[in-house]
Formats: sequence, structure tokens, C-alpha cells
Amino acid sequence: MTGINRRELGLGLAAAGLGTALGAWPASAQPSAPGTGPRTDRGAQDPLGFPADFTWGCATAAYQIEGGVKEDGRGETVWDTYAHTPGKTTDGGTGDVACDSYHRYAEDIALLKALGVKAYRFSVAWSRIFPSGKGKPNQKGLDYYNRLVDGLLAAGIEPHMTLFHWDLPTGLQGGWQSRDTALAFADYAGFMASKTSDRVKHFMTVNELRCFTDLAYWNGNKAPALRLPMDQVNQVRHHGVLAHGLGVQAIRAHARAGTQVGLADNATIFVPAIETPEHIEATKKAMREENAMFLTAIMEGRYIDSYLAAQGKDAPKVQAGDMKAIGSPLDFVSLNVYTANTVRAAATASGYEILPHLANSPRMASPWLYVTPEALYWSIRTVSELWKPKKLYISENGCSADDPVAQDGKVYDADRVMYLRNYLTHLQRAVREGYPVDGYFLWSLMDNFEWEDGYTKLFGIHHVDFKTQKRTPKLSADWYRELIRSNKLV
Ligand code: NOJ
Repeated sequence: MTGINRRELGLGLAAAGLGTALGAWPASAQPSAPGTGPRTDRGAQDPLGFPADFTWGCATAAYQIEGGVKEDGRGETVWDTYAHTPGKTTDGGTGDVACDSYHRYAEDIALLKALGVKAYRFSVAWSRIFPSGKGKPNQKGLDYYNRLVDGLLAAGIEPHMTLFHWDLPTGLQGGWQSRDTALAFADYAGFMASKTSDRVKHFMTVNELRCFTDLAYWNGNKAPALRLPMDQVNQVRHHGVLAHGLGVQAIRAHARAGTQVGLADNATIFVPAIETPEHIEATKKAMREENAMFLTAIMEGRYIDSYLAAQGKDAPKVQAGDMKAIGSPLDFVSLNVYTANTVRAAATASGYEILPHLANSPRMASPWLYVTPEALYWSIRTVSELWKPKKLYISENGCSADDPVAQDGKVYDADRVMYLRNYLTHLQRAVREGYPVDGYFLWSLMDNFEWEDGYTKLFGIHHVDFKTQKRTPKLSADWYRELIRSNKLV
């Protein structure tokens, strides 16, 4: 673990009021604001328990695990280009082979089954289905996902399919700068729904809007690594949310009845400095304002005034019908939650101040991964109170750790277990208080290609020996298996 202060983590539990949580449910456990959905009392049989129907899962993404980049007609993506550009990824890592899951998917299904998970969140490589992003579908690519889905179902594991996890086909000239990419995405999403919704009941359109727009076209540290001026960045963002909205419409038009549609977003998460009404209110404000271009636009079907005013002449150009599509009603909202920022109420124009992380704030191995377990509770609570989604999932949560292999060949990642136990404590609080969160997907099933960090930051609960492709459960996998088995915090 990098620079982590173990004592602070321990204190996190006390500060979260876990002392009370261990006893009977306090009356104060009721959501404090109105309109957060019916209180269900799910899991109330055991003070540390989860509801019997809670969905435990693991998550991965195509380019990070599949390999087989030149097989069966797969087209090239922006990540193939980026990873093969010298100096872009740490140690020159690429997804050429990754975990070789394209060939070893049956082994990976066996890992999931051994864990006891009910669901698996994976992504489809768009360029396996439409090698250049649109045009004629590639049956061999579809066959792969049919095999995967059928294998999961045979193992009693529910497939949750993400349609876009950053691996944009390079054949789509103009990438996310072009509106056509959003239209092409909708065609692809509708196609996948028509071919798989007889078996797949949960579709997520896009993964982490901020990463494939801002980080890829503004900060320049994700593919295609551009640094565009703000007006163009806002247009890229708009095409991202538009792709999501048109994708929802296309899935609904082509899917079987009962199919559920949402997205997996990494909204920036805020937690109140102190749990008092004014700081909580400031936190909700920050959540809405700071995510104005992504989740807020999707949940409200409009760009809020403060965002438009702040962008001025750089604001996105919106065509008739765009906002209606972007605000298409969802069956669920999924959040990827790793870290959060602390907010306090302040006499600023916005009414809040975001407090900076400090040099000695605890972090995991990735420098951006500040340890903030309360993120799981406050993400669920703020999204619930602001927008009242029908249902929420945590579509990703987990951490990188140093993970030395012990003499017996095992990784004893006690720091990852500590991270997960702390975070899940706050997930359990959200469940206990009746927020409509139905499942949790741990990132990640196994060590894999971590984008610009190559293979130097590992998030798996299974260690992968990238020379032999041997998968070995880490201590955290044993811990997660026990959590799932007992269905309570352990
Ligand atoms: C979120 C992304 O969706 C995933 O691809 C990535 O590996 C994890 N965060 C960890 O950084």
C-alpha cells in the first residue's frame, strides 16, 4: 500500500458511527430527506447483513482482459493505437494479450462460480461486433459474447453487459468529436440488444463519461490523448451523453420486454465534512453542479443554468431532441465509486467549498485513489435524494495495492481487504437506511491492463501471472467469497 495511514482507516469506522450500527437499528437510520423511495427494511434480520436478494458481482472490461486483438475480425481501437505509441503506457504495456480471456473465458467463469457471485459485469468490444464501428456486423465477434453469456448462465451467473468501456473503433473517423459516433453507438447498442436480450437482462450503455471525454480529449492521458480547447471538449462531452441517451432509446426499441437499461458512471463523489444539515446540503449541491455535464444532464434532461453560464460561449451546441434523448428514463443508475472529495458549506457563490486532499491523506497504490470509505454511502444517498432513481448499483469499487507474492505463491492483500471492509460498511449503511441499492460489483475479478498504467497498478482479487496466465485467488478473494456466503459484513 502506498502512503496509507492504517490508523486513520480504523478511525473511519468509529467516525461512521459503526458503534451504533452494531446494535439495533437506530431511528436516525431513516433517510433524513424526504422522497428517497420506500424504506424496505431489507436485511434487517441481521445488523450487519444484506438483503437476501442483494446482487454480489465482479466487474471487468473487454480491452483490459480479453487479448486476442487481431482475432476473428476484431477491428482496431483507439486504445490499440495509444498503447502501441512509445511512451504512452507505463512499461509499454498493451492489451494485446492481457488476461487472454478471449480464450480463457471458461476458466474465468469458473473463478466467478467459485466466488459464489450472482452476476458478472463485462463489456463488449464494439470493434469485435462492428470492426470499423458501423456497417456490416461480424458474426465471429458476436459468437464470442454468445459463448460468454451462455457460459455464465449455465453457471448460474447473471450477465450485466456494458456496451462501451472506452475501446472506440478507430474506423469511426473523428472519434467522440463527431456527432456521428453517437449515432453509430446507438445502432450498435440496438444491435446488441436485439441479439442478446433474450438472455441478458441488464445493459449499461457507456462506462465513465468523464474518462472517455475529459481525460481523453482535454487532459490527454487516455486514448486518443488529445488536448482540445474547451468549446470542443464540451462538444465531446455532449456527444458522450448523447450516445448514452440514443443508446437507451435503441436498446428499448430492440430489446425483449423486461430488459433493464442504465449506465455506469463515475460521477465525482462528495462527502460532507461533518454530518450536519448545512454540510449535507452543500454536498448535494456540489454533486449536482460538479457533474452538470454528465450525470446531472442525464438525470434532468437538461444542462443546468450554472453550467451553461460558466461555459459561456464554449457551451455545447445542442440539436433539437438531444436533451430529451439524454434524459431518457432509466431502469437503474450504476455508479463506479473509488474515492470522494470532502465538502463543507461555505459563503461562496456556489454555497460550498471542496476541501483539497492533503499530501498525507491515505491512498492506495494508484496516486488518485484516496481512501474515502464514506464515498459508498454518500454517492448512493446524494444520487437518491437528488434524482430518485428507481434502482442503483455500485458497478465498480475496489483498489490497487502492491500485492507482493508470498513464498507459498499466494498474495496476502490484507490492505485490500481493509479497504473493501471499510467501504462495504458504508454500502451496508445505505442498504440499511432503505436507499434502493440492489447490487455491488467488485473491480476487479482479476489483475488486468490498467490503461495508461499498463500492468503496474493491479486491482484484481485474483492474481494473474501474466507469463503463464495462471489465476490464483488472493486473500481478498477468500474474504469476498465469505462475505457472499454469509451475506453480511465479515
Ligand atoms: C474505472 C474503470 O472503469 C476501469 O476500467 C478501471 O480499471 C478502474 N476504474 C480502476 O482504475
